[in-house]
Amino acid sequence: MRPDPLAYLSAELTALKEQGLYRTLRILEDEQKPKTTFDHRSVVNLSSNNYLGLTTHPRLRDAAIAATRKYGVGTGSVRTIAGTMDIHMELERRLADFKKTEAVVVFQSGFTANAGTVSSVLGKDDVVISDELNHASIIDGCRLSRAAIKVFPHKDVGAARKILQSLPAAQRKLLITDGVFSMDGDLGPLPALCNLAEEFGCIMMVDDAHASGVFGKNGRGTVDHFGMHGRVDIQVGTLSKAVGVLGGYVAGTRALIEYLYHRARPFLFSTSHPPAVAAACIAAIDVLMDEPQLIERLWDNTRFFQSGLKQLGFDTGASEGPITPVIVGDGALAMTLSDQLFQAGVFAQGLAFPTVAVGKARVRTIVTATHTRDELQFALDAFDKVGRQLGILR
Ligand SMILES: Cc1ncc(COP(=O)(O)O)c(C=O)c1O
Repeated sequence: MRPDPLAYLSAELTALKEQGLYRTLRILEDEQKPKTTFDHRSVVNLSSNNYLGLTTHPRLRDAAIAATRKYGVGTGSVRTIAGTMDIHMELERRLADFKKTEAVVVFQSGFTANAGTVSSVLGKDDVVISDELNHASIIDGCRLSRAAIKVFPHKDVGAARKILQSLPAAQRKLLITDGVFSMDGDLGPLPALCNLAEEFGCIMMVDDAHASGVFGKNGRGTVDHFGMHGRVDIQVGTLSKAVGVLGGYVAGTRALIEYLYHRARPFLFSTSHPPAVAAACIAAIDVLMDEPQLIERLWDNTRFFQSGLKQLGFDTGASEGPITPVIVGDGALAMTLSDQLFQAGVFAQGLAFPTVAVGKARVRTIVTATHTRDELQFALDAFDKVGRQLGILR
């Protein structure tokens, strides 16, 4: 028998096990709800991005079922050949209206929206100036573009300015930040970055994956939250988190969107969303407009839970929204905290290197609009008990 050419992968997995960083996938056996069943255990779920509970909202469910009945389950083609249905176009029109931009293109995911956009608007002679904590999909997009990549320390506008000062004025530049940083829940310094972009003639881009449906009026995102309409050239949003379904989108000028129709590789070379996805996303926009109380409840729950964790004495970092990390430093300790919380009936995922920097391991909590106060109090009590047992709280 020939030697296994992939044997080195098993060695890496063994090393992960030795470091206490090996993970098995938690299996959800019920709906994606605030209290649900993973791995045969009923838990308070603090690990989903289902901020508004839309994954199981009746209006989205009904829209998905009706679209499946009308159009079938798949589209059978990429958008640019035979896979653009009228509901794909309706979704893009509705999103453009929602985001107050000329046009929108929808991608298969937020990941492909970021990676496909950055890699197609930039080329090898260009430069991207990027926050060190920007999402992996931005980093991959930068690499695919072959542009020079200049990284500034997290939220350090002064450092971004120094980079810009060192670059030739004529070079094409993209300044890019996450709207909400996914591991820490803090906001990118959008107003200051917009000022920089204007001063140095950069393209300004924001990835609002975790801000979509959470920040701004009716969940329009950080551009709306900071009053930056018209000052951000490329806005990415996701349909997979607060919107509760699947997909990503880019909002901007008609020329930008038409360019992406012609050049963004995931748009050109991967099959379009099933009709149920497009229809459920349209229904989600209706819910965002008609049920603003969901966003209010999300923020009420966020304040309650975050202040509870702080009062217990946990390090919750710099969070400014529903993503609240409980930072413990050591990777194995974060995984143990997560495991023991799970045994106590709370699912909060442990995150260690390479998802977060070495020494910054954590469990990440995300509350939703649909958690009850009792569920959140139950989770706080579990954090208190397990935090003491592990010596994180004294
Ligand atoms: C900041 C950020 N951008 C983009 C994405 C990708 O979004 P999606 O899950 O829709 O691919 C994520 C999701 O993990 C994210 O956290």
